[in-house]
Amino acid sequence: MSAPNKSYDPVEVEALKPEEIERMRDEAVAAIAAAPDLKTLREVKAAHVGDRSPLALANRELSALPPHARADAGKRVGQARGAVNKALAARQEELEAERDARVLVEEAVDVTLPYDRIPLGARHPLTTLADRITDVFVAMGYEVAEGPEVEAEWYNFDALNIAKDHPARTMQDTFFVDSGRGDGTRLGDGLGPDASGDVVLRTHTSPVQIRSMLDREPPVYVICPGRVYRTDELDATHTPVFHQIELLAVDEGLTMADLKGTLDHMVLSLFGEGLKTRLRPNYFPFTEPSAEMDMECYVCHGASVGDPDNPCRTCSSEGWIELGGCGMVNPRVLAACGIDADRYSGFAFGFGIERLLMFRHNVEDMRDMVEGDVRFTRPFGMEI
Ligand code: DAH
Repeated sequence: MSAPNKSYDPVEVEALKPEEIERMRDEAVAAIAAAPDLKTLREVKAAHVGDRSPLALANRELSALPPHARADAGKRVGQARGAVNKALAARQEELEAERDARVLVEEAVDVTLPYDRIPLGARHPLTTLADRITDVFVAMGYEVAEGPEVEAEWYNFDALNIAKDHPARTMQDTFFVDSGRGDGTRLGDGLGPDASGDVVLRTHTSPVQIRSMLDREPPVYVICPGRVYRTDELDATHTPVFHQIELLAVDEGLTMADLKGTLDHMVLSLFGEGLKTRLRPNYFPFTEPSAEMDMECYVCHGASVGDPDNPCRTCSSEGWIELGGCGMVNPRVLAACGIDADRYSGFAFGFGIERLLMFRHNVEDMRDMVEGDVRFTRPFGMEI
């Protein structure tokens, strides 16, 4: 490096002329004031304060000045740079405050707005109730059995001892399925030992009894939940599509006492201990003897009977709730399935899940169960 030049006149060094330094300062301050955002301000800072900015270069020139001139020029450059840094800090603060205020507004969350996340689905209470009942029997060693919903008449009626001219065929209003083949063959062909019948939407889950007995050697212990169809109009207490659960036990030496004990256990498992069940004589072609099964009202335990001051909505003050039909499997049904009715006996029962859901949960209108409104299903819990 060369020695200081004693004759050097700072006024002659272009970058250090007072008006030049003022111009640099004013330009920098103006650019800083004009920076509309923090990004531009960063660029302005690089241009006017950075190592290669005019004022930094001017500052570098100072070292070449003789000492007497350096103090003066240094003071001017220092003041200019100070003013620029001050303007920069002020604008920085201003822009940061603006940004913070804007972010607060833009990112504000209105916690009162309804959320639009897709709600989690859950199984229908009819399904969970059917599963719960099924589980009671699976725990006792029963097997779950299923059959087709489009069923041959033979399984739905004939094999269950409901002959063609049997009045019981009219007890259940049946949907018949048009085979639509037009070639003389029937959809039901091959579906059962008697292929001459029509095809129906099964009117009950009892045909699964037949399929289970044909598929297995006794002993048979099956529980059969499923969807069934009848030509009913949809109203508060009817629906053309509904669910039943069917039970069948075939073994040596089974009696009505086993049926009663099984029913007692089911009621205990679903509603709690100490509830009585009772059987009332009834008629079904596929059971002999047949009965209607009732359970003691789990709400009033019979206390509402004859007490008009304390009516019970659950049992309509009857003290008993009707569950469904049951009985000892008719030997003719066993025979139709190739089971030796002298050696084996069986019991069966079947009932509607919708009705059970209605009185177990005080559902007053069956239509609520089919309309798919989550406001109905949600109170049952989001069990999956
Ligand atoms: N299948 C009958 C119906 O839908 C209900 C029924 C009654 C089922 C008695 C049975 C039974 O298993 O033993 O009306």
